[in-house]
This record gives sequence, C-alpha cells and structure tokens, in this order.
Amino acid sequence: VKLRPFRLSPLLLASAVLVSAGAAAAQQAPKPEQLIKWRQSNYQVIAWNVGRIKASLDGSYDKEAVIKEANVISAIAGSGLGALYTAGTETGTGWHETRARPELFTDKRVAELSGDFVREAGELVRVANGGDPAAVKQQFGKLTKTCKACHDDYRAKE
Ligand code: HEC
Repeated sequence: VKLRPFRLSPLLLASAVLVSAGAAAAQQAPKPEQLIKWRQSNYQVIAWNVGRIKASLDGSYDKEAVIKEANVISAIAGSGLGALYTAGTETGTGWHETRARPELFTDKRVAELSGDFVREAGELVRVANGGDPAAVKQQFGKLTKTCKACHDDYRAKE
C-alpha cells in the first residue's frame, strides 16, 4: 500500500486561520454568559477557602493550610474581578442568573468596597503567616465584613 503524503489543502489552511482568528476575537470579547460564569466561579473558590479557614478556626488550627487558603483568597481578590463586570453583563445567566444588582455597575462606592476587600484579604495573608489563631480570627472577621458590605447593597437576594 502506497501512503499518500498528507497535505493540507489551501482551503483547510484558510479555515484554520479563520478559526484561530475567531478564537482571538472571542478572547478579546468573551460572551456575557462566560464573564458571568467566571465571576460566579471566582466567588465560589473564594467561599470554599473562607469555609476552610473558618473550619480551621473552629476546629484544630492548621497554620500552613490557613496560609495557603488566605493566599488563594487574596490572589483572587486582587486579580481584577472588576474586569468581569463589563457593560452587557448587567443581566444574563452564567451558572445561573446573575445576582449582581444594577447599581454595582454605576456606583462609585463599589471601587471603595473592592479596595477594602483586597486590603483585608492581603492583611489576612500577613496575619496568617504570623500563625496566631486569635489574630487570624480577628482579621478573618474583618475580611468577611467586606463580603457582607458589598453583598448587602450590590448582590440581589436569592
Ligand atoms: C465588591 C463586591 C463584592 C465583594 C467584596 C464580595 N462579593 Fe461575593 N458577590 C458579589 C456579587 C456582585 C455577586 C453576584 C455575581 C453574579 O451572580 O454575577 C457575588 C456572588 C457571590 C457568591 C455566589 C457565587 C455564585 O455561585 O453565583 C458567593 C459564594 C460570594 N459572592 C462570596 C463572597 C465572599 C466569601 C466574599 C468575601 C471573602 C465576597 N463574596 C466578596 C460581590 C462581592
């Protein structure tokens, strides 16, 4: 059997170029559903780690685990979540219908609340490295207050 050498037809090549151009365009402007999924997913990862720190504080304290968990929260908090709240994502469905309230997209105060969140999460990393559970508990309380402050005004009730 004589194998024919595999050659890409110009048409196939052209469509491959089109597909990658399409992928690049999709990267520049992700669909609203995708952006909403990403922000909901980020909060889920944050909540998972908040829960693990709480479990550590309520049970036997695990310094190394808490450092890791605080780092995850801090990294996500500081990762630029605001970029997931672009125009066109005020309504829509990610994993489920968005709970972001319309005011979130217009109120200047949101930047301040986000700043508090990033700052307290960073501070939690610092305190976690110190390894004193009482101090971590106090800072953890400060961090979770920033969640509530934003949710009270900018996240719709379930
Ligand atoms: C600056 C505002 C803000 C801060 C700070 C904030 N959140 Fe949220 N959070 C939101 C908004 C808005 C939504 C709704 C997002 C959506 O549905 O599009 C949300 C959604 C969530 C959700 C639901 C995710 C899902 O599955 O839809 C969880 C869980 C959550 N946040 C946890 C937290 C925790 C824990 C903190 C603090 C450690 C926190 N958030 C800090 C604004 C904030």
